Amino acid sequence: MKFIKVDTYEKLSRSAANIIAAQVIAKPHAVLGLATGSTPIGAYTRLAEMCDAGDVDFSLTSTVNLDEYVGLSPANDQSYRYFMDKNLFSKININKDATSVPNGCAEDLDAECERYDALIADKGGIDLQLLGIGIDGHIGFNEPDEVFEKGTHVVTLDPSTIEANARFFASRDEVPRKAITMGMQAIMQAKKVLLIANGKNKEAILHAALFGPITPKVPASILQLHPDLTVIYSEV
Ligand code: PGA
Repeated sequence: MKFIKVDTYEKLSRSAANIIAAQVIAKPHAVLGLATGSTPIGAYTRLAEMCDAGDVDFSLTSTVNLDEYVGLSPANDQSYRYFMDKNLFSKININKDATSVPNGCAEDLDAECERYDALIADKGGIDLQLLGIGIDGHIGFNEPDEVFEKGTHVVTLDPSTIEANARFFASRDEVPRKAITMGMQAIMQAKKVLLIANGKNKEAILHAALFGPITPKVPASILQLHPDLTVIYSEV
């Protein structure tokens, strides 16, 4: 594992963007696994600047996002599809058809999970997976559990996740209770994993995940087994 500690969110964002851009420059057809949440926004802004400056070209790149709330359509401004379009895809020269987010409004959610895993497999897997970490140790929406779930699946969100994400909604009651998330197989089979965490409130869970026992009670702890993991942490 490569652990990079920086002293500002700006530096975290620039470092993360540099690693993602380097992947795309080295392999224009790269498959990027992408994340939502507040942590990656700075990196996405920086990638858009690099793209504008002509330093990175996303025209051949494709993406698969980690997760989506059940019941929120792409037009809903709290959906992760909306987030990705707003914060990244509309600002870079990516082919929108090459971007994928699970469909949280699918009539048959189990079929949607199977479709998503098949789509990732068809792309040949993920070259670089970007991850945030929840205060409960989740990656994607793989919440603390008795087992590591292998494939894309429907989850019931942990009360701490609902609480943490309520800040993006008008009220706690509006936070969806369920989500679709990529499972551990696609994440662990990514050739590289880049985990970013920002803020003192992430320090304890990050330490538990990276240096504690490998357990589904701390889902991110499985990353200790990944052969190419980079972690960037900024306290502020
Ligand atoms: P955050 O979310 O970036 O908004 O802190 C991270 C996560 O829950 O994975």
